[in-house]
Amino acid sequence: MMEIVLRLLKENQNNFVSGEALAKTTGITRAGIWKQISHLRELGYTIESFPHKGYRLIDTTLALNNFEVKDGLNTTTFGQTVYHCLKVDSTNTWGRTLANQGAAEGTVIIAETQTKGRGRMGRSWISTPGLGLWFSLVLRPKIGLAQLAGITLLTAVVIAETLKETTGIQVQIKWPNDLFFAGRKLSGILAEMNGEMDLIHYLIIGIGINLNQLEQDFPPELVDKVISLKMIQGKDSSRKLLLQTFLKKFETAYLNLAQTGMLTAVQYAKEHSANLGKTVQINQGMGRILTGQAVDLDLDGSLLLKKPDGSVIKVYSGDLIETENVQ
Ligand code: BTN
Repeated sequence: MMEIVLRLLKENQNNFVSGEALAKTTGITRAGIWKQISHLRELGYTIESFPHKGYRLIDTTLALNNFEVKDGLNTTTFGQTVYHCLKVDSTNTWGRTLANQGAAEGTVIIAETQTKGRGRMGRSWISTPGLGLWFSLVLRPKIGLAQLAGITLLTAVVIAETLKETTGIQVQIKWPNDLFFAGRKLSGILAEMNGEMDLIHYLIIGIGINLNQLEQDFPPELVDKVISLKMIQGKDSSRKLLLQTFLKKFETAYLNLAQTGMLTAVQYAKEHSANLGKTVQINQGMGRILTGQAVDLDLDGSLLLKKPDGSVIKVYSGDLIETENVQ
């Protein structure tokens, strides 16, 4: 029903459609129409209402839902099935449930806000309602655990390319897969898998991108650590455009991975790396901390770390802190 109301408003965008006309076409009462309009507003549509004139759709920039994600999306797999809700604990947790129930590869799960949004290393992720892209993808890659780092690096590269194409902004990739601008975090990725060493059953890739928040939308303790596109550009970005561009690019990169390999993505990550050449500490959890110089990225997405004794080791996961700029 909501989709019919939306379609009528869109067909007449910037013009008034009377409550009576909406009620007549949809067959619901005018009070019912009012409820649908309230719901559309909750979903980010800016709709004016005037007595005796009706409703006028003015802006769709902030809206994102099943209907918008699929509208004009030119993919074959990614985004063909979309789950969207106003509030969930975590789209990754929801994604796991759906994947356990057989959700297909390419399923996209979006929430306007998350009550228990999760970050890497057990951290939480702040998901301000409607102001960012908080979503997860279900993947069913035929790979082993060793190739996992490659897929998350690929995801980071595709997000960076998407941001560049849609906004002109060039972000930096902080190993393993955070996106930074001016030394502050703009986007993070949380990949969670279900499977065994040599066969992954499914992979949930959770992505958070700070889009339309202002400084005051973040908790005070994060203010100097995070950034949004709006803080960079001074204007709102369309979540729909960003998500659709991401899905198209990701589908192309991911489905061609077997033929093309990781070379181009790794080269991109190196060119736009926030860490290479720096002296770093990598916290791998359980009290294990590695120290050395981040010298290179390997084709599987691992970081090559030169230890103080001169030996070079491959690091697959962890949390990186810069300890000193050696340049
Ligand atoms: C990190 O940088 O530590 C990873 C952050 C990942 C956040 C996203 S938001 C959508 C998805 N659902 C979650 O609970 N987490 C990821």
